[in-house]
Amino acid sequence: MIKLTEYSKNGGCAAKIGPGDLAGVLGQLPRTADPRLLVGIDTSDDAGVYKLSDTIALIQTVDFFTPIVDDPYLFGQIAAANSLSDVYAMGGKPLTAMNIVAFPVCKLDPGVLLTILQGGQDKVIEAGAVIVGGHSIHDDEPKYGLSVTGIAHPDKILTNAGAKPGDVLLITKAIGTGVLTMAARADMFPEGVAAAIRSMVKLNKAAAQVMDRFTIHACTDITGFGLLGHLREMAIASNVSMDIDTKTLPLLPEAKEAAEMGLVPASAYNNRGYLTSVTFASTVPEYIRDLCYDPQTSGGLLMSVPEDIAAQLLSDLKQAGIEESAIIGRAFNKKGGEIYVC
Ligand code: CO
Ligand code: CO
Ligand code: CO
Repeated sequence: MIKLTEYSKNGGCAAKIGPGDLAGVLGQLPRTADPRLLVGIDTSDDAGVYKLSDTIALIQTVDFFTPIVDDPYLFGQIAAANSLSDVYAMGGKPLTAMNIVAFPVCKLDPGVLLTILQGGQDKVIEAGAVIVGGHSIHDDEPKYGLSVTGIAHPDKILTNAGAKPGDVLLITKAIGTGVLTMAARADMFPEGVAAAIRSMVKLNKAAAQVMDRFTIHACTDITGFGLLGHLREMAIASNVSMDIDTKTLPLLPEAKEAAEMGLVPASAYNNRGYLTSVTFASTVPEYIRDLCYDPQTSGGLLMSVPEDIAAQLLSDLKQAGIEESAIIGRAFNKKGGEIYVC
């Protein structure tokens, strides 16, 4: 069987770049002011949003990465679920998608690519969207992902900037796909690896449908910057601080054991290095800290919601089959986007 992940040079996960690296370069470009641009690149949000009319806003996002699993069909599904997620995180509905492909045609059977694309296409169909095209290049290292376009009502766009003091914070998937991807490469913790794959191929569609019935103040999805990185982005954009209780944090099976064994991706250390303004209580064990920084692929939604709807929202999410959903903390009135973890 092909070891697809052996073709990815940068380890289990796509290289994640902290603020000050790539984002710093992009930030030097002059902005083009346009009143129709509702969400641009300034607030580290999941997708760009452009107002087409008073009732329709266009949501656009793109993501692609190197293989994180060996099975080409699963890799395609995971990449597509991950790309589609940014539209759900904005409160939108995906409509169209375009494939982005880099593939070593001289080294790998073209059938492998076909299987990757089939996995992606099946997820796009499950999302109710359609693939309209794409672009492929020859490359030593396979890469796959999609550019996804969706729509939402301009007044219903969920950014990461709307969290309010007193809000309750919820997540919809368990944490640990980074460490378990490392475990897969080491041929360890098969039960945890299988659970991580099930989690990564799962669309955030059902969670987004439940979310649509409630007043949500802010939303994003948890991906490469890990739980703390995405909490921090939301806290900064919303100008609040946050308390996180790791005792309520849903973890994938064997994520604890994998983290304790040191199967921690390099980008988790990058996340730890650049994330300041995070304070851990001395009682938080080291493996939990690692998992708080663990880069997620196709992670769950992170929502900031009014306290009075939180219990009903959580119960509806569980009823919709999103069992890992959990309340993990709250936002409070302190500027600077500080995160306190106990
Ligand atoms: Co995102
Ligand atoms: Co993204
Ligand atoms: Co959002």
